[in-house]
Amino acid sequence: MFFSKKKAARSADRVLPVHIGIIMDGNGRWAQKRGLPRMAGHRAGAQNFRVITRYCNKIGIKYLTVYAFSTENWSRPKEEVDALMKLFGEYLEEALRDFRDENIRTRFIGDVSAFSDELRALIEETEELSSDKTGLVLNIAMNYGGRAELVSAVKKMAEDKLSPSEISEETVSQYLYTAGQADPDLIIRPSGEYRTSNFLLWQSAYSEYVFMDNILWPDFTTDDLERAIDIYSQRNRRFGGV
Ligand code: FPP
Repeated sequence: MFFSKKKAARSADRVLPVHIGIIMDGNGRWAQKRGLPRMAGHRAGAQNFRVITRYCNKIGIKYLTVYAFSTENWSRPKEEVDALMKLFGEYLEEALRDFRDENIRTRFIGDVSAFSDELRALIEETEELSSDKTGLVLNIAMNYGGRAELVSAVKKMAEDKLSPSEISEETVSQYLYTAGQADPDLIIRPSGEYRTSNFLLWQSAYSEYVFMDNILWPDFTTDDLERAIDIYSQRNRRFGGV
């Protein structure tokens, strides 16, 4: 039995989010606390990301969006950016091997044109190889920013010469990277920061946020995820109604 009795009873009446977003924050502090270089934190974060992704697939989450690299993260020291790019490359090579047997569809959201040819090729291959998977849809946000996404959507609408009367909220949604997907129900941010940091700005209009103090991303466990889902499950979502 995978769940403890307590959790099994709880899971029967809880509402499972369709789409979860995670701001994987706190890698640097995790490393600092241990006297390690920041990159050690990112490595531990990447390892944890694999665990949480598999778990989401296992419990039946339909979409998971993780914030891996923002449009603002380029301003970090060059060594950290270079090392992160290397880590993404290593992860993708591994994902191509390991996720082959998993029912997870991996997609990338953000402006991937900024990455090296090598990384872009890996991104393309990963998307292609997993395109027929029917389980969890994993969106990895890389060089992603909510504002940049909206600007890109507006530009595409202009290129397509849409007239004002053709533009509705539905139209805008269809021009975003997440076109066709459910909006995030639950967005989790560990590490004690209370910000959205330009993550899924449009899509999060009615998302429920769970900010988790005292947990840094590399330490975030499947139990913490369950706790966040429980908190979400108890929220009264009104979507502007009564
Ligand atoms: C935020 O922590 C984290 C990042 C900017 C990088 C997130 C990347 C990973 C978890 C690597 C794995 C991702 C993939 C797709 C392989 P921070 O550095 O801002 O931490 P701090 O606030 O403690 O400094």
